[in-house]
Amino acid sequence: MFDMTNNDQQEKKQETAEIVVWDEKYATGIEVIDVQHKKLVELTNQLYVACIAKPDMLQTVFKEAMHKMVEYVHFHFDDEIKLLKTINYPQLNEHKKMHDILIKDILEAAKEYNEGKHFVPNHFVRTLKDWIFSHIAIHDKTYGFYVKEQIHNGSLSAQALKV
Ligand SMILES: [Fe+2]
Repeated sequence: MFDMTNNDQQEKKQETAEIVVWDEKYATGIEVIDVQHKKLVELTNQLYVACIAKPDMLQTVFKEAMHKMVEYVHFHFDDEIKLLKTINYPQLNEHKKMHDILIKDILEAAKEYNEGKHFVPNHFVRTLKDWIFSHIAIHDKTYGFYVKEQIHNGSLSAQALKV
């Protein structure tokens, strides 16, 4: 009979480790955005798995996961801002500023890592998770409510929400 050694169990645990789980509290109600936010959940978890990789793998695996995360955050924020422009969101500028700060912080952390400065990947992923998902749960939800309200009073059509 197949017997899992401690090492196998440890590896299994690392492959499936989750630091964030999709929750309705993150749902904006705008399908295209929620799909992208779910992808951010996936990428954050991949980054977490990468940072608990074996030391000899850490360098390559974490760099690659970080690269994917940065690319996707850029892509997603661009899409989100396009949408907020389309719906004439009154807090567009403030929202964009928050994105810019987030991107700047992520890039600075990536640079620190690349330069080999004192950097704790595990700690970084937790911080990143807090940044991104509190932004979604508070500020993205706010435009989600705005959209619902606009659709409800007939100022916005659901068609306009296709980015
Ligand atoms: Fe946002």
